Amino acid sequence: MTPFIAPSILSANFAKLGEEVNAVLDAGADIIHFDVMDNRFVPVLTIGPLVCQSLRDFGVTAPIDVHLMAEPVDNLILDFSKAGASYISFHPEASRHVHRSLNLIREQGCKAGLVFSPATPLTWLEHVIDDIDLILIMSVNPGFGGQSFIESSLAKIATAREIIDASGNDIRLEVDGGVKINNIREIAAAGADTFVAGSAIFNSDNYSETISAMKSEIMLKPIDN
Ligand code: DX5
Ligand code: ZN
Repeated sequence: MTPFIAPSILSANFAKLGEEVNAVLDAGADIIHFDVMDNRFVPVLTIGPLVCQSLRDFGVTAPIDVHLMAEPVDNLILDFSKAGASYISFHPEASRHVHRSLNLIREQGCKAGLVFSPATPLTWLEHVIDDIDLILIMSVNPGFGGQSFIESSLAKIATAREIIDASGNDIRLEVDGGVKINNIREIAAAGADTFVAGSAIFNSDNYSETISAMKSEIMLKPIDN
C-alpha cells in the first residue's frame, strides 16, 4: 500500500487554516488528519464539522481523515460525512455499539476507522475486521499534540499488521502521536503505512523538506540492526 503522510492540523495556525492545509499538500502530504476533541472524551476542545466543510469550500480536495476523540459518535459521523470527511475514525470506548457506528460510517460513503489508545486492546478487532478500512494505533495518549512516542506501540503496530495480513482485507494501518523524522523508519518497519505528524511538520521551518525527509526514511525500511 502506498505510504501516506498525514499532517495533523492540530498543530497548524488556525487563523489561516486553509492556507496551512494547502501548504502541506503542496509540500507532499497525502491526506489531512483532522483531530476532533470535545472536552469530555479528552480534556481539550477543538474543531467540528463546520471547519471540515470550510476546508472543502476553500477548495481542498485531498482526503480528510477525521479522528474523533469525542463521544457519543453517531451524530458526529452523520455531520462529518455531510461536511466532506473521507475517513472517519473513533475510539471503541466512545461508542455504545461499535459495529453499528462502523457501519454507519460506511453507509454514509466514508471509510471507517477504529482507534486504539495505548491501553486499548486489539481484541476489539476480532468481530469487526470485515467492517473497517483503517486501524489507527495511538502512540501517545489522545488529547494533545507534541507528546513523546510510546515505544511499546511498535509491538502493537506489528501485531495489528499481522491481523490485517491474516484478514486479507484492504485496511490501512495508521500511527498517530510523536511521529518524527528520526523514528518514522522503525514505525514503517513495524508495519505502518499511514503516518500522522502534527508538531513534527507544522513546527518545522520547511514543510516540504520535513515531509520529503519522512518519505525518504520510510523508503529505507527495514532498519539495519
Ligand atoms: C493527539 C492527536 C494527534 C496529534 C499528534 O491526541 O490525535 O493527531 O495532533 O501530534 P504530534 O504529531 O505532535 O504528536
Ligand atoms: Zn489524531
